[in-house]
Amino acid sequence: MLKPFLVLSAVILFEIAAASTPAPTLAPALAAGRMAQEAAPAPAAPASTNPVKPTPALQEKAKKLYARDCAICHGDNGNGKTDLAKDMQLTLLDWTDPKALATKSDQELFDAIRKGKGKMPADDMGRAKNDDVWNLIIYIRGLSKGQPAAADKPSN
Ligand code: HEC
Repeated sequence: MLKPFLVLSAVILFEIAAASTPAPTLAPALAAGRMAQEAAPAPAAPASTNPVKPTPALQEKAKKLYARDCAICHGDNGNGKTDLAKDMQLTLLDWTDPKALATKSDQELFDAIRKGKGKMPADDMGRAKNDDVWNLIIYIRGLSKGQPAAADKPSN
């Protein structure tokens, strides 16, 4: 007899708390934390592994994003030899050289794009979702291998 009443008042209390605290996301976050503790700890994926799989459609999207947000400094082909780079006296790597990004991890590139680096502005969430950034990284790494379309052309 008492139990339903307790549950009900707990719900009401929770709702009052949720309505009056400025951070109503706290409760779900706490619950999620509890669940994570109960669940067997899944091995964390290595941070440097790009979680997205390239598809032609996603790479097409990345190409557009690159043209919109990145090419102005890094160049259409990624060689970094742009007027703006010259004007801003930027020191940019030449991504058409396979060696340029060889020693950098995906995570490093991700952080540079997400948070910005030196004179490079961050591409914030409003402009590119995390998955967009991961796809951009695949796209950028691909610049040293030539555009996908270039494979169709006969190499003389
Ligand atoms: C205003 C010019 C500018 C724009 C726009 C810009 N970058 Fe950069 N980017 C830089 C500069 C400068 C660096 C070197 C920063 C440093 O090492 O101090 C850099 C570095 C990077 C790096 C780290 C690896 C490297 O080559 O040094 C990545 C990855 C990168 N940019 C990706 C992007 C992507 C993707 C975009 C578009 C979303 C973008 N950048 C837009 C100027 C720019």
